[in-house]
Amino acid sequence: MHLLFLSLLAYTYQITFRRQEQQDERVHTSFKMGAIRVVPNKATRAVNLLRTIQHTHPPSCPCHSNPGHHHNHVAPAVSRFSERTSRRSYGTPQDPSHLKEYAFEMAASAIRFGPGVTQEVGMDLANMKAKRICVVTDETVDKLDAMRQVREALTREGLNFRVFNKTRVEPKDYSIKEAIAWAKPFNPDTFLAVGGGSVIDTAKLMNLYTCYPEADFLDFVNAPLGKGLPIERELRPLIAIPTTAGTGSETTGTAIFDLASRRAKTGVAHRNLKPTLGICDPLNTRTMPAAVKASSGLDVLCHSLESWTAIPFNERTPRPTNPMLRPAYQGANPISDIFSLNALRATVKYLPRSVRDPDDMEAQSEMLLASTLAGVGFGNAGVHLCHGMSYPISGQNPGKYRHAGYNIADAIIPHGVSVAVTAPAVFRFTGASNPERHIAAAEAFGVDISNVKRESAGEVLADALQKFLAELGDQPKGLKALGFKSEDLDELVEGTIPQQRVLMLAPGLAKELQQERDQLRRLFEDSMEFN
Ligand SMILES: NC(=O)c1ccc[n+]([C@@H]2O[C@H](COP(=O)([O-])OP(=O)(O)OC[C@H]3O[C@@H](n4cnc5c(N)ncnc54)[C@H](O)[C@@H]3O)[C@@H](O)[C@H]2O)c1
Ligand SMILES: *[C@@H]1O[C@H](CO)[C@@H](O)[C@H](O)[C@H]1NC(C)=O
Ligand SMILES: [Zn+2]
Repeated sequence: MHLLFLSLLAYTYQITFRRQEQQDERVHTSFKMGAIRVVPNKATRAVNLLRTIQHTHPPSCPCHSNPGHHHNHVAPAVSRFSERTSRRSYGTPQDPSHLKEYAFEMAASAIRFGPGVTQEVGMDLANMKAKRICVVTDETVDKLDAMRQVREALTREGLNFRVFNKTRVEPKDYSIKEAIAWAKPFNPDTFLAVGGGSVIDTAKLMNLYTCYPEADFLDFVNAPLGKGLPIERELRPLIAIPTTAGTGSETTGTAIFDLASRRAKTGVAHRNLKPTLGICDPLNTRTMPAAVKASSGLDVLCHSLESWTAIPFNERTPRPTNPMLRPAYQGANPISDIFSLNALRATVKYLPRSVRDPDDMEAQSEMLLASTLAGVGFGNAGVHLCHGMSYPISGQNPGKYRHAGYNIADAIIPHGVSVAVTAPAVFRFTGASNPERHIAAAEAFGVDISNVKRESAGEVLADALQKFLAELGDQPKGLKALGFKSEDLDELVEGTIPQQRVLMLAPGLAKELQQERDQLRRLFEDSMEFN
């Protein structure tokens, strides 16, 4: 599992620093080795990789130009912290709630990636000695080649499985409860999710609540809407086969649903929800309708942009008093940065191609890879305003908007559409918090940044985003086009306030409640209409 993860890490580095590598043949070789061959000693390789990462950090990286800035890299951040600790008197008790975080941690599911790799899943489950497998999918995906292959693969191995195909697209609490009620009597020892984020998230929660049969549904749901209890039990193995290139849910410990009574999305987030293995097969995403490709791809775009610009891990308070309490969404950190920035660059390059041409296999494949990379990035760094504000947008949907191209009966503002619609306003707002990062993001969109001033970083990125959305096509140009009116703004703000888990990572957002409300209101206003 570690090895797979490191290969992926090595692979991303290969992309990031291609230019530097060309100048340094020695490094090039070592990266190649990481991406393609399995070297004998994992530990040595990991250490070498980390060393290589530190030493080949590109001098053009914006973070080096401003050493005092909060987005520092491993070495300075760590040494600054240790100075502080060594000076501290251990005689005086310290209130940990005022101390800032000093560490970051990396967690991701094992990922296998390759065309046709779906057929291996029967062997995986046999290797895991699975006896009662719950296959989770939805009615659309149940008819696709991915599910045909899964059925064949499981039958070939003589495995005992049942299929739940009633997953609701963009699940609601009640659809999740129905799925849990279906799973409980079957009492599976293993879960297999085949579908988009809706399916994978539903499977995670079926797994959670069959392992906690006595728990109340809100026990693990993010506070303050739920109790936000930590998941202390180990859950059953879950294999996820994504059929969209979007959520990255195959790598994360997050499950999102709409809490109907509160008219806002929320979810459960804990490392124990993470799938054991994500099987990413680019042949499975081919059949997505163009509209699903576009909105799930915009989700990747926002995952990468938000995690790249989230407040850094070492600005977060309180410092956890037990490693168990360290949140999965830790803030931007040197490892998540690699994943997020690469995913951003790939999305800008390949999403328009993949939406336009379903036969462009390179673009389809690169988008699936980008969604997984972004999943690792935001799964460890977190997302912020676009996501926090999207939860009431898609939960409230006062105009009963139905996105064209989604083959479902219900009104729906797809997740990707709901995050992208505030993106221009959000990054215009966050630009001042970290101009270098916003300028680097604008550069990823192809903007010539040579004359961009730090003061206009947010504006420049917002313009690039608007242009990207317009060229992608079929995207609402603001909340008005989604059916929101000015009288809906208050409720949007109130629906965003409880999204603490992501808002705490939003740069520039006030801590004081009324100020925060005003800022959010302005962001929603700015998102009503754009070009
Ligand atoms: N867990 C996370 O970390 C995370 C992150 C972001 C979003 N989400 C959640 O995930 C959900 C959205 O997931 P999504 O964008 O992957 O889409 P989805 O699972 O909602 O699927 C969208 C539509 O596409 C269909 N579909 C899926 N794959 C297809 C294929 N290969 N061919 C044809 N049709 C296909 C589905 O049946 C559905 O109708 C939202 O509820 C969102 O809140 C979760
Ligand atoms: C969903 O599952 C049910 C029962 O297992 C089955 O009868 C139905 O045909 C399935 N739906 C699709 C679309 O495959
Ligand atoms: Zn998302």
